[in-house]
Amino acid sequence: MQDYAIDQNESQSSSETHQVSLNCFPKLEVENVSKVYAGKGKQLLTVLQDINIKIFPREFICLVGTSGCGKSTLLNIIAGLLPPSTGEVLVDGQSVTGRPGSDRGMVFQGYTLYPWLTVAQNVAFGLQFQGMSKADQKDQVNYFLNVVGLENFANNYPKQLSGGMKQRVAIARALANEPAVLLMDEPFGALDAQTKEQMQEFLLELWEKTHVTVLMITHDVEEAIYLAQRIYVLGLGQVKGEIPIRLPQHRELDIKLSPEFVDIKRQVINMMRQRH
Ligand SMILES: Nc1ncnc2c1ncn2[C@@H]1O[C@H](COP(=O)(O)OP(=O)(O)O)[C@@H](O)[C@H]1O
Ligand SMILES: [Mg+2]
Repeated sequence: MQDYAIDQNESQSSSETHQVSLNCFPKLEVENVSKVYAGKGKQLLTVLQDINIKIFPREFICLVGTSGCGKSTLLNIIAGLLPPSTGEVLVDGQSVTGRPGSDRGMVFQGYTLYPWLTVAQNVAFGLQFQGMSKADQKDQVNYFLNVVGLENFANNYPKQLSGGMKQRVAIARALANEPAVLLMDEPFGALDAQTKEQMQEFLLELWEKTHVTVLMITHDVEEAIYLAQRIYVLGLGQVKGEIPIRLPQHRELDIKLSPEFVDIKRQVINMMRQRH
């Protein structure tokens, strides 16, 4: 039923994984995407300029940049919720520009669960439109509630859950549609520091188990390095550069204190500070 087979071969180093990934076709491509808004009077506001990124199957990519640099605009364009002014978005080589679809599951920063539906009904929401039988929907919902560790909360309502649990339901809902790519817009931005770290740990475990392809945007440099195999740095609407994260694939939170981690952090921060 699920595309996401549990990966039995966890022994690859991150650089090996990176190498393997680069040998296949991209899962997601963003080609020459720009976004221009009409500003005051006749002024034009360029929010994104000639963005090119590629994400390979099973990669976890973070796009990091300061507030207001165009991250959400780019993710909304990738999700098909916003048309680009120029350029294309491709999934598995097919253009999906300006068209939302269940091939791109989205998790937003704010809590977007339907308050009048139970946890299970929230996760099942997209499935009923796929013409899936009730019995298959139930199996799919149970499977993904299990993946996010919330199988005992199926009949609860969102208001009975903590912020972290709500985001786990949102992740289960996105995964239940078996998207080609999971898109996340600062999904832990509204959580307190401790819950946020727990959720980062949870997300990495989930990615190790499912190997879903992930594109997450964040302004938090440490979060990006801890989670990603590769980082794109976005600044003033442009990709400033790309940094491979050569850390072991399996990471504990303590890795954030290691010299290797701090070196990468310095590299990312320097790139963010660079002027064009
Ligand atoms: N509909 C819009 N019209 C005009 N400007 C916009 C619109 N949406 C976003 N912007 C501008 O685009 C820039 C990038 O916004 P956003 O993508 O939300 O940044 P981020 O997610 O990185 O904080 C901001 O300067 C914002 O004011
Ligand atoms: Mg944003």
